[in-house]
Amino acid sequence: MVPSRSKDRLSELAGHVGPDLATHLHGVTAGHGTFTEADELAEQVKATHGRVDHVVPSIGGWWMGKALWQTSEAQWQQFFLDTTTAHMAVARAFVPRLEPAGSYTLISGFSAQKPYPTAGIISMHGAALLMMREVLSAELDGQRRVNDLILGPIITRSRPQGSAGWLTADHVGHAAVLLATNPTIHDEHITLDTRTDLDQLQRRAPAGDRT
Ligand SMILES: NC(=O)c1ccc[n+]([C@@H]2O[C@H](COP(=O)([O-])OP(=O)(O)OC[C@H]3O[C@@H](n4cnc5c(N)ncnc54)[C@H](OP(=O)(O)O)[C@@H]3O)[C@@H](O)[C@H]2O)c1
Repeated sequence: MVPSRSKDRLSELAGHVGPDLATHLHGVTAGHGTFTEADELAEQVKATHGRVDHVVPSIGGWWMGKALWQTSEAQWQQFFLDTTTAHMAVARAFVPRLEPAGSYTLISGFSAQKPYPTAGIISMHGAALLMMREVLSAELDGQRRVNDLILGPIITRSRPQGSAGWLTADHVGHAAVLLATNPTIHDEHITLDTRTDLDQLQRRAPAGDRT
């Protein structure tokens, strides 16, 4: 299931994945930016499908261009407060509803661990998410699997050009599935920067899943 605030983006997504995969794709036009919206979404998922197995929140994007002291209140609101609130709302709505063998894989970026000049509010947002994941792991104490996937720059439809060695959005999807379905990966920071990182993750998969 993929939620989006935009019905058009969901239709676009169905077109991108193609007719075969689209039959398994359930788009939900719903927000998840507030605690109430995320609770309603989680309830809707449970009511429709009966259970929540794996959650991969990939919320927020990239922004840069201003030093911290030049950042406007509107940019702070959009790229730190709104996105951090959405992640918190989704975590508090979905983590308690996860199946016992389920997993939560939070997506963040390289700038969460390294100060990135002129993208400071994105670095701060990412760092807050990594600590949220660590706190969830400490609080859950092994009852559910919670990990984070820290991406390097990714080749996407909106940025099709990149340096040699950058991973693609499809690689990220593959890595997210490997993480969600590997019961031995608990409470880890997984860095996904290169093909070597992806190969390492693949090698950790249970024997039958090493495709
Ligand atoms: N692309 C890269 O090169 C790259 C590199 C490193 C890390 N990452 C990480 O990958 C994740 C996704 O990035 P992306 O490039 O794929 O971004 P994207 O295409 O812009 O996707 C952003 C997603 O976040 C949602 N979103 C944005 N603001 C929101 C808000 N205030 N409340 C609720 N939902 C919100 C959007 O939902 P709607 O559909 O409802 O608009 C959309 O689904 C982020 O965590 C980012 O840090 C990306």
